[in-house]
Amino acid sequence: MFILPNNVTIIEVGPRDGLQNEKVHVDEQDKLAFIAALQKAGISEMELTSFVSPKWVPQMADAKEIVGKSARIGRQFVLAPNAKGAELALEVGARSIAVFVGVSNSFNKKNINRSTDESMNALEPVITKLKEHGIFVRACISTAFYCPYEGKIEPKEVVALCERFVAMGANELSVADTIGMANPRESYDLFKLLKEKLPDVLMTAHFHDTRKMAMANIFASLQAGIDRFDTSAGGLGGCPFAPGATGNVATEDVVHMLDTLGIKTGVDVKKVCEAVALIAPHVSRPIETGMYKLFVNNQP
Ligand code: HMG
Ligand code: MG
Repeated sequence: MFILPNNVTIIEVGPRDGLQNEKVHVDEQDKLAFIAALQKAGISEMELTSFVSPKWVPQMADAKEIVGKSARIGRQFVLAPNAKGAELALEVGARSIAVFVGVSNSFNKKNINRSTDESMNALEPVITKLKEHGIFVRACISTAFYCPYEGKIEPKEVVALCERFVAMGANELSVADTIGMANPRESYDLFKLLKEKLPDVLMTAHFHDTRKMAMANIFASLQAGIDRFDTSAGGLGGCPFAPGATGNVATEDVVHMLDTLGIKTGVDVKKVCEAVALIAPHVSRPIETGMYKLFVNNQP
């Protein structure tokens, strides 16, 4: 029989992962309305934005305004790739900061312009400082299954990187299938291994849905003991430096599945769809998630 948790935490990544890859400029007030509507839907943990180079990711250039003008509800993350990003995040009063590194060296170079080791060495004093400030540190681990440049990634490399982050003091690991290539067996095996090796850190799964395997991967990860999932309203998302990384698994579809399984998330599917309806006119890609299509057509 299936082993399922009673509760799951949804970490909404739409305003960050969902919008960072969007080619059309999204106005600050439309992002803020999206964030407020997601909070109204019961989202208690959310990635709001990133403090990254505006030359590299122009869509996140309004990070300071987004943090300053969002209501402080629950745990709100901002991403920072380096000391400068962390400094900017601290200046605006962020209390939860997410750093990010790729297991794959080639991907990390494309994403952060550093080797994985260079990034880790540079992040060590940054994390120490954040911990001194009492900041909740989330570490996002990209290309934990496959890399668009290097192919299959060995689980032992993922474990080693995760162990290093935990030794540095990270509170949470968000382990990502960046280009949506993992299958349910790989998801189960990696998360089972990570839960065994690192039982005392919050462990989150981050699935992109490029090949429509994310929902199956979530179900497999639940079996491995994972009860935290990054999801994106409207299935928006993708990393500009990971070719083939289309949207994240959709919040409304994941919450619906969990609802039907009797697993509580505290998130209201209809209200997530209302949030999606607010952002849909401002993004270039069509929104075709299962629950949003039903919502638009007024179907139960
Ligand atoms: P670089 O060009 O090597 O930076 O880029 P640098 O350190 O040489 O500095 C160059 C200039 O950038 C300087 O300004 C710095 O001050 C500035 P200048 O003197 O030329 O005026 N700079 C910054 N400005 C704002 N914020 C900063 C910052 N750092 C330096 N933090 C850098 C290195 C890391 C900045 C660049 O590569 C970058 O911004 N990369 C971000 C890429 C990104 O945002 N990717 C998407 C997020 S990760 C993701 O989506 C994956 C995830 O979802 C999980 C998954 O699915 O895998 C999390
Ligand atoms: Mg991502």
